[in-house]
Amino acid sequence: MYERLFAAIYDRVMVGLEEDFLADWRREMLASVKGVVLDVGAGTGANFPYYNPQSVELWCLEPSEAMWSKARKKAPPALDIHWLPYRVEDRTAFRHLPERSVDVVVATLVLCTVNDPALAAEHFFRWLKPGGKLLLIEHIIADQPWKIALQKLVQPLWTPLACGCHLTRNTPALFHTPQWKIHFEEYENHWVRWYRAVLEKTMAEEESV
Ligand SMILES: C[S@@+](CC[C@H](N)C(=O)[O-])C[C@H]1O[C@@H](n2cnc3c(N)ncnc32)[C@H](O)[C@@H]1O
Repeated sequence: MYERLFAAIYDRVMVGLEEDFLADWRREMLASVKGVVLDVGAGTGANFPYYNPQSVELWCLEPSEAMWSKARKKAPPALDIHWLPYRVEDRTAFRHLPERSVDVVVATLVLCTVNDPALAAEHFFRWLKPGGKLLLIEHIIADQPWKIALQKLVQPLWTPLACGCHLTRNTPALFHTPQWKIHFEEYENHWVRWYRAVLEKTMAEEESV
C-alpha cells in the first residue's frame, strides 16, 4: 500500500533535485552507453529519457510493481526494454541475464535502498563482461561528523518513510577494490553528499568476489 503511494509521489518529490543537478548527471552519464544495459532498481524510469534507443538493449531489475507500472508508461516506444521483477540480491535474475552478459550496469539512487549493498556490488561484477562499465549516482554518508550524527538521528524515521533508503551508506568504499578501475569519480554536496562514478570491471579473479 505504502509502496504504491511512494511510487505515485516519487517523481514529484524528486523534481527539485532533478532540475538542480540530477537530470544533467543522468544525461552526461547515459548519453553514450551502448549494448546490453542493466538498470538496477529502475524505479519510475528516471533514466529512460537519456538512453539512445538505437544503441541500447535495456534490462531493468525492479522488484516493485508499483514503480514498474509508472516506468512502463514513461518508456519511449523505440526503447527495447525487458523487465526483471527481482531484487538485485536474488540470483533468480541470472537465469534471464547470465554472468558476463552485460556491457553496462547502471545503478542510480538504489544502493542506498538495497538490503545488501556488498552482495549487489558482487552481482554487478558478475553480470558485467570483462571491461564492462558500472555507472553510479548515489547519495552517501556526509563528510562532517556533525552531519553524520544528524543523519544517524534522522535515519530511523527516514528509512521507513523513504521505502528503505539509508542516509549513511559509504557506497564508494564498496568499489575501491582491485575488481574495479575508476575512470571518473566526483563528490558534491547538494543538501546531502552525492557521489557519481564511472567504473570498469577489471580482469581481477572473479572467484575472489
Ligand atoms: C530511490 S528509487 C531510485 C529509482 C531510480 N533508479 C532513480 O534513479 O530515480 C530505488 C528503487 O530501487 C528499487 N529497489 C529497492 N530494493 C531493491 C533491490 N534489493 N534490488 C533492486 N531494486 C531495488 C525500489 O523499488 C525503487 O524503485
